[in-house]
This record gives sequence, structure tokens and C-alpha cells, in this order.
Amino acid sequence: MFRLGIFFGSTYGNTRDAAFEIAEEMRKHIAGEIWLHDVADRGLQRLGECDALLLGVSTWNIGELQDDWARCLEELGKVSLKGKRVALFGVGDQSSYPDSFQDALAILAQAVREAGGELVGFTSTDGYFHSQSLAVENGQFVGLALDYDNQPELSTPRIQAWVKQLLEEMALPQLARLEGGLA
Ligand SMILES: Cc1cc2nc3c(=O)[nH]c(=O)nc-3n(C[C@H](O)[C@H](O)[C@H](O)COP(=O)(O)O)c2cc1C
Repeated sequence: MFRLGIFFGSTYGNTRDAAFEIAEEMRKHIAGEIWLHDVADRGLQRLGECDALLLGVSTWNIGELQDDWARCLEELGKVSLKGKRVALFGVGDQSSYPDSFQDALAILAQAVREAGGELVGFTSTDGYFHSQSLAVENGQFVGLALDYDNQPELSTPRIQAWVKQLLEEMALPQLARLEGGLA
């Protein structure tokens, strides 16, 4: 059975909330298992058993990885992600940290590439007001950028649009739809 792994690190719970909402949204669409893991609990154990991965991280300390991710970044370097599609979601604060908004996404993106993973799920920077971010490549964020401090009302629509985008880009097995009504 297809298995989607969602691994996240979260200090005050925002990235955790995003991970749970993304999982819930995914469950409406995909056939297969969804595993949710807080990297604070068991690190990246069982990551290798997943067919596709979503990695969620918040940015802390001016452009740094969230603490639990910082502790297991080395582990990521030891896993082979060859042939795996990986999408990143980040949580940050573009008002208080406009020059390092979502920088942790860039750190994870580099680690995923070094491990041989294929990054998908890039998103537009339209609608954000930060001034600088290492997470922007060719005018796009290297994943989904959420900001619960300044744009909480945009999180759900951003998540919904991103999940739809990933169904295609990750070639996720979709639930069969029932057409028409009951006979
Ligand atoms: C001391 C401190 C440093 C932060 N540094 C950044 C930063 O450099 N870039 C950014 O986008 N957000 C930064 N943030 C904002 C957090 O990423 C944001 O509050 C996020 O929602 C926390 O998510 P979490 O609860 O899942 O860890 C910082 C917050 C604090 C308190």
C-alpha cells in the first residue's frame, strides 16, 4: 500500500497544526496510508519506509532550523531519498523576521537534494510581504510558506491549493470518485 510520510518539527505548535491539517486534507483525496511523525519523538525513524514525503519546519533564531529538526538534520544526510518525491512546508513570521522569512525551508531543501530526493510543491511568492528569504528560488518558495502570526486566515486556502498541486506533482494515488447518484 502507498504510504505518505509527514514529518514535522514544531516548537509552539503552529507547524504541528499545519501538519495535521495537511494530513486531513490529504485523507480526503488519496488512497493509502498517511503517517504523521513529530521529529521530536523518534527523529526520522521509518522515513525510509515511506513512498513520498512531506517535511514541515518552522524557522527560528533568525534563519535557523527549528530545534528538533536541527537535532536530526544529520540523520537526513544518512538516508537515501533517491527516487522519492519530497515536498516541504514551512511556518514563519514575515513581519517580525522579514529578512529571514522561511529560511529553514532552504536548509531542508539542500539536505533533501543532497540525499537524492526530488523536490516538488514549489509555490508563488505572491501575497507575501517579506523582503528577503533564502527559501525563494527563481521567484518561488521551495515549498508551502505559512504564516500563522500575520496571515492565519490564508493558511487553510493555501493548504487546500497545495494539496491539490501535490496530487499531480507527487503522482499520489487518488481515491476513486463516485460519479452520479444512487440508482
Ligand atoms: C526568537 C524567534 C526567532 C524567529 N526567527 C524567525 C525567522 O528567522 N524567520 C521566520 O520566518 N520566522 C521566525 N520566527 C517565527 C516562528 O517561525 C513562528 O512563530 C512560527 O509560527 C513558529 O512555529 P512553531 O510553533 O511550529 O515552531 C521566529 C520566532 C521567534 C520567537
